[in-house]
Amino acid sequence: MIILAIETSCDETAIAVLKANKKKFEILSNIVASQIKIHAPWGGVVPNLAKREHIKNLPIVLKKSLAQAKINPKKIDLMAVTVGPGLEPSLWTGINFAKELAKKWHKPLIGINHLEGHIFSVFLKEKSFKFPAMALLVSGGHTELVLIKDWLKYKVIGQTRDDAAGEAFDKVAKMLGLPYPGGPEVAKMAERFKFQDSSFKISLPRPMINSKDYDFSFSGLKTAVLYLLKDLRAGKFGSRIISLDVRDKGNQFPSPLIAQICAEFQQAVIDVLISKTIRAAKEYKVKTVILGGGVAANKELRKQLGNKTNLLLPEIKFTTDNAAMIAVAAYFRALKEKVKNSKKLEANGNLTL
Ligand code: KG4
Ligand code: ZN
Repeated sequence: MIILAIETSCDETAIAVLKANKKKFEILSNIVASQIKIHAPWGGVVPNLAKREHIKNLPIVLKKSLAQAKINPKKIDLMAVTVGPGLEPSLWTGINFAKELAKKWHKPLIGINHLEGHIFSVFLKEKSFKFPAMALLVSGGHTELVLIKDWLKYKVIGQTRDDAAGEAFDKVAKMLGLPYPGGPEVAKMAERFKFQDSSFKISLPRPMINSKDYDFSFSGLKTAVLYLLKDLRAGKFGSRIISLDVRDKGNQFPSPLIAQICAEFQQAVIDVLISKTIRAAKEYKVKTVILGGGVAANKELRKQLGNKTNLLLPEIKFTTDNAAMIAVAAYFRALKEKVKNSKKLEANGNLTL
């Protein structure tokens, strides 16, 4: 089966062509046009700019994707498009584009939940899989623990009450003067931290780590970083620290200090994520843990969670938004369900699993 999938839920315009056969996949093309440069000056995604860029990029990305896959549209068996969750103006651009193509090419079109795509991103690599499983989904918009009882059977057992993990990374990066998107920048900085460089200890809270539920909260952690920066500026840790170190160009604080803050912040997020995931995995007696979403690109999170459980990881290139993962999810959906009337597909920014 050849599947063409379209993903425009946030700020990446992505189209992939996937060949699927008996749960084995071959990616014929996977094109992602990132809008990072457009949104970076605003420090976050601007919905109307995203919509404008998607409209401009979709035909170009489609052309590239078909050319790289070396495929005639006639050979496509199924089309898929992300219908939510995400930014509705962005989602609609992909849906409208997909509907027009499906009509023109006379193809069935299936709507896919973006989060289901992140879960299925691990299947681009993994062959074996056992239920029940627990997925930790961590992205710019979501932080969720999802119990997967069987194929396509989900129960969200916990989620963030405020900021998503990726959002917290992005906001803390902004406070530290690091560029958008902040997750990879904070991770890079954290890698530079060497314990011997630190002349004092920084400790940030691990919010809700001991709460009995499986919910998360990262806004307090972000505020704790804000207060820490205020204290540093006020010289609470000694003015020597700021005046003696070599400053990175454009940063308010010396880079070893930024590295230390990043390392502690990253570890605080990881500690909470791992603690809740492992507890949930034990309670629900799961056989596998899946990590998905943009924050799953974080090497420390991958390593530390992998040390504690039987973990399935997507390849780093499939952690952030892409259409290959949407195509895989579409394959599993199409195996189990009849493809509905595509004319009725609608964007739902708050779609849940
Ligand atoms: O899944 P994704 O591409 O988009 C959403 O569906 O939100 O996730 C993007 C998020 C951003 O917040 C970004 O900062 C974060 O993933 N991210 C990371 C890393 N790479 C991307 N966070 C921490 N460490 C990383 N290495
Ligand atoms: Zn995503």
